[in-house]
Amino acid sequence: MNKLPHIGTSIFTVMSKLATEHNAINLSQGFPDFEVDERLIDIISNRAKDNVHQYLPMSGYPPLLSKIAKLVKKSYERTLQPETEILITAGATQGIFTTILALAEIDDEILILDPSYDSYEAPVLLCHAHPVRVALNDDYTPNWERIEKACSSKTKMIIINNPHNPTGKILTASDFEILESLLQKFPEIIVLSDEVYEYITFEQKHISAHTREKLLNRCVMVSSFGKSFHVTGWKVGYLVAPEHLISAIKKVHQFLVFSVTSICQVAISDYLDFVSVEEIGPFYQEKRDYFRSLLQESRFQLMPCEGTYFQVVSYASISDENDVDFCKRLITEYGVAAIPISTFYANKKDLKLIRFCFAKNNATLEAAAKRLCNI
Ligand SMILES: Cc1ncc(COP(=O)(O)O)c(C=O)c1O
Repeated sequence: MNKLPHIGTSIFTVMSKLATEHNAINLSQGFPDFEVDERLIDIISNRAKDNVHQYLPMSGYPPLLSKIAKLVKKSYERTLQPETEILITAGATQGIFTTILALAEIDDEILILDPSYDSYEAPVLLCHAHPVRVALNDDYTPNWERIEKACSSKTKMIIINNPHNPTGKILTASDFEILESLLQKFPEIIVLSDEVYEYITFEQKHISAHTREKLLNRCVMVSSFGKSFHVTGWKVGYLVAPEHLISAIKKVHQFLVFSVTSICQVAISDYLDFVSVEEIGPFYQEKRDYFRSLLQESRFQLMPCEGTYFQVVSYASISDENDVDFCKRLITEYGVAAIPISTFYANKKDLKLIRFCFAKNNATLEAAAKRLCNI
């Protein structure tokens, strides 16, 4: 008995394991290797001595909910009701899973844009709903014509990911205008907007789906403190959605996790008093630029990177083997781990592209680049 027969171990686990076995520099999985902000470590250490170790309210630690509302106000000038429009989740992963489980019914169609992050399909299948893959354009912009053609009375949800993993692409105001006019024809469709990299954008400013007047009543936005504050292992994220959707999602959330790890919520809440999210974009922009400059000497061709902490490169001028084999060889022969982009496509389309994570110390990036420039 297996409810997900076609889904195997994620490529992130496979590549990280191979990287460990071969002592390779791991630029595959999306997590930082640098120290967490000392202030956050001090907060969690000191808070451990307080009485913060029991269940918190199901929706989240009330001061954290209020501070997220304040953060959203400051970042996007949108006013939220902390008790009814925000839900703290065990990372964005649980936020996505719970949203789909709460809202998708048997035979609903859920649009997933290809290529995409790998967390969306499994919950859709577990609901006995149908994932409908719609390919992005070659430059990774949404193909709105194809998306419109895929929409029907059966469509329950469209999942967007902005900034986009793996391609680093971000949606523009004009993308949102097209999406809004398209969705006017389909009043039942909900937008699930995965924005875990909302604070990691560079030249262009991020537009959050829930700040769009025409979407806010039908949009569930998911974010991740793990990504924003370099603590991916803490697994704390949150949803922003209108009350009618959040209350449906809470019905599932209460039986999946009930309430998220208390001490992590408390520490993040305290940290939000003085951390400045505006510093996150420039911090990663410097890393992106540095990593790109190091790779200029290599035979890899750099793709654009507008947001996230991922750099996609083409190895077409180096090898014609498929991207999974190339990544394996990159680990075993050259000691650097990356993620093959084909694994983000439903049909495993191989475009000779691989993804590096540059959320790393400069010394790690330098050591990896030295090896990559020798290929
Ligand atoms: C696009 C995207 N969504 C969701 C997640 C998961 O976030 P979390 O660790 O908060 O569950 C990731 C992690 O890499 C991601 O890249």
